[in-house]
Order: sequence, then C-alpha cells, then structure tokens
Amino acid sequence: MKKTEFFDVAARQGFYGVEKGGLYGKKDNVRKYWEDVAIKVNLRKYVTEILGNKNQIRAADLGSGSGEGLEALTHIPCETYETPDKEFVLTKKDIELYLGVDISKEMVETGKKNYAGKKNVEFMRGDLARDYSFLDHGPFDIIFSTYSSPSHLSEKELMNLMVKISEAHQRKVVVVLDMFAMYSPEWPVYWNNKEPEMKEYNMVWLYLPKRTQPKKEEIYYVKYWGGNEMKKFCKKLEEKIKRKVDVSVRDRSVLIGRHIDTGVYNNNPKPVRKQVNRLFDRDYRGNYDTLAFDISYLDNMKETAPDEYNRIAGYAGDWNTMIAYTKALFSRDDDSVKRYIETSPEYLSEEMKMLAWLVRNASRFPVVDFWASIYGPQLAAILRNLEFNLPEGLGCGHGMMCNITINDQ
Ligand SMILES: C[S@@+](CC[C@H](N)C(=O)[O-])C[C@H]1O[C@@H](n2cnc3c(N)ncnc32)[C@H](O)[C@@H]1O
Repeated sequence: MKKTEFFDVAARQGFYGVEKGGLYGKKDNVRKYWEDVAIKVNLRKYVTEILGNKNQIRAADLGSGSGEGLEALTHIPCETYETPDKEFVLTKKDIELYLGVDISKEMVETGKKNYAGKKNVEFMRGDLARDYSFLDHGPFDIIFSTYSSPSHLSEKELMNLMVKISEAHQRKVVVVLDMFAMYSPEWPVYWNNKEPEMKEYNMVWLYLPKRTQPKKEEIYYVKYWGGNEMKKFCKKLEEKIKRKVDVSVRDRSVLIGRHIDTGVYNNNPKPVRKQVNRLFDRDYRGNYDTLAFDISYLDNMKETAPDEYNRIAGYAGDWNTMIAYTKALFSRDDDSVKRYIETSPEYLSEEMKMLAWLVRNASRFPVVDFWASIYGPQLAAILRNLEFNLPEGLGCGHGMMCNITINDQ
C-alpha cells in the first residue's frame, strides 16, 4: 500500500472538503433548528391525535423529494420530558406506510436508495397536477408536504387534487399543505400582485456566500398564497365536496426566509439568516448591528396589505427589542437593562430576566465562549419561539403551513 493511499481515497470521497457547518447551504442551522422544528411541531398535534386512535399511521408526502418529510415525521419532539426513553412522538416502526410522491425521477430514485430495505417506505413518480394514482395506495391518515412542494401547482390543479383526495377518503383525513406565502418581507414585489398566477422563484441561496443572483436556468415558477386566500380556497372546496372542511394557518420563517439574505426580490439584502445561523452555532457570536431588522423598506406596503404589514412590523419590533436588550446586557448598561425589563410586555420581560440570569452566571458554565455557546443559541430560540407564538397565520412568512381537515361529512 502506498503511504498516501488511505488519504488519497478519503480526499476523493470528499471527507476533506471545506467544512461549512450550519452557516450556509441547504441544511443550515436555521433550517435544522427553526424551520424543521416549526414543521415538526405543526405536525405533532395531528400525529398525536391519529396515534390516539390507532397503532400505526399511513402517510403520503406530496412532492416528497428524497424523503425529507419522512425524517420530519419520525423526529417530532415529544411535548413533555417525563418519558426520557421515548425520544420522538413517532418512530419508523409506528409507520404502516410512508409513500413519497414526486415528479422528479432523480428524487424518487434517491429516496428509494436512501430507504432501501425499509418495507414500510415507498416512493413513486407522479405529477400531482394530473396524476392521482398515489391514492390507490390509500386510505391515508395524513397527507402532508414539506418545504413548499404543493406551491408548484396552480390553484385549479390543487383544487382538483384536493377533490380527488376527498373522494378517495370517505372518512376524516388531514392534509397539511406547506406553501410559499405571498406577503413575505423577502418579496414585496409579489404582495397582492395577482397576475400572473405562477411567479418566479429560485434557490440561489444554495450558493451563498459566493453568488447572490440566479442564473436564468435556475428560475422556476410557483404560486404564492395569502392566508385569507387559502381560507377562501377551503370554503370553495367545502362547497364542491359537500363535506365540512376546517383550516388553520401558521406562518413560517417571517424574518429569516432564505431570500432575506439574497435580496433578489427586494433589492435590499440583509444578512439576517446568516447571523441567526451564527447564533445557533456554538462557536460563533451574533453581530448585533446586522441582526436588527430594519423594515423601513416596506413602508410603502402599509396600505397594500395593512394586516400583513402590521404583523411583520409587530414581530420585527419584538425582535429588535431583544437585540437591543442583548446589546445593553453585554455592554453592562444596567439602567437600560432595567428599563427594558420594566417596560416590555410580559412575554418579552420574562425572557429578558432569564437572559440576565444567564449573563450574571456566565462563569458557572463550563464553556470556552459563553456568548457563542450559551447566550447565542438561547437568543436564537427566543426569536424563533416569538414566531411560533404568533396568532393565526396571514401568509407573511417565507412559508405557510396550512392544516386542512376534511371531515367525514
Ligand atoms: C422544494 S422541493 C421540496 C422537497 C421535500 N419535500 C423537502 O422537504 O425537501 C419541491 C419538490 O416538489 C417536487 N414537485 C414539483 N412539482 C411537482 C408536481 N407537479 N408533482 C409532484 N412533485 C412535484 C419537486 O420535484 C421537488 O422534489
């Protein structure tokens, strides 16, 4: 064996690539600790309810890619910590069938390879705009989607799909549609701009920090939905199928959508997601100045969509207060710290007191950089939970999780 043979192979296999950690890329920290968590917590209620009535679950994943939804489904955190032996609400053995449906041959093949040998996991190719054959494998307890797959369908195509789902399920079925939302601060150009129905999207954020502009061939077309629009859609569905349809909407990634950092659709790039990625990382500190979220570029949208604008402004206000408070804490400006705690609403002042306790006790944490390892991740989780606790969604985030229940009658 050559002296370098092992290392030649290891380098060729990619083990010596530059480690980007969670700071950039498809599976960055925000996706892992914020967006995936939002998706899982949203699914938890429905999965728990199903498992209350039966031992195993049958699930279909619309636009499944290579099975990311299966990972979400089987890694839903438990709500309580009294049962440490039960790590997740649902494990792979609680699944009778997971069926991933996707239009892309490569995605389906990768999914099959990823889960080869798992009898309860299947993938099939299908264009959900016209091919409903996945329903032959039903009935399903839950039909869901992750990361905006059904936004590839027009309203008419989605309506046809929902009618077919209803026809194939004479009993109650839950459909979770994860959609691109219309009123994200990422793309004010799309706010209330009805035509054309399918609008541009791109994933140039995959190439950050090297490149911020998409190539022509990277652009594709999707439908962006408003919260009220989704409710009207469900009303129409209800009339068509003559069964009761319930819907609730959660906004996802309001200030940290991927295109906040690229600025492709607003000419105002801000490295906010980059900074939150750093907060979640145990080795990096966040930077106060670029973490604050200046929404003045949306001023002229106040009248276009007042409810959505006010929701974003309210959340951005709380966000900025937490950043300013952090600055006061670390610059030992005790008067400002006290003032923030005394004058902020309780849901913020409670978090502030906890953060002040952490900072006062910093020396008790056996870490090398308290800011990076303890404070940063805590602050990131607070900013995230403020979003999770927002009221009924309006479609003002990057994504919108629409929970639709088609009842038995
Ligand atoms: C953004 S990816 C999301 C994939 C995966 N759900 C995830 O969470 O990463 C969108 C997926 O929708 C699929 N898709 C697009 N149009 C579709 C259609 N008409 N029918 C079925 N799948 C479609 C794409 O092939 C792609 O895998």
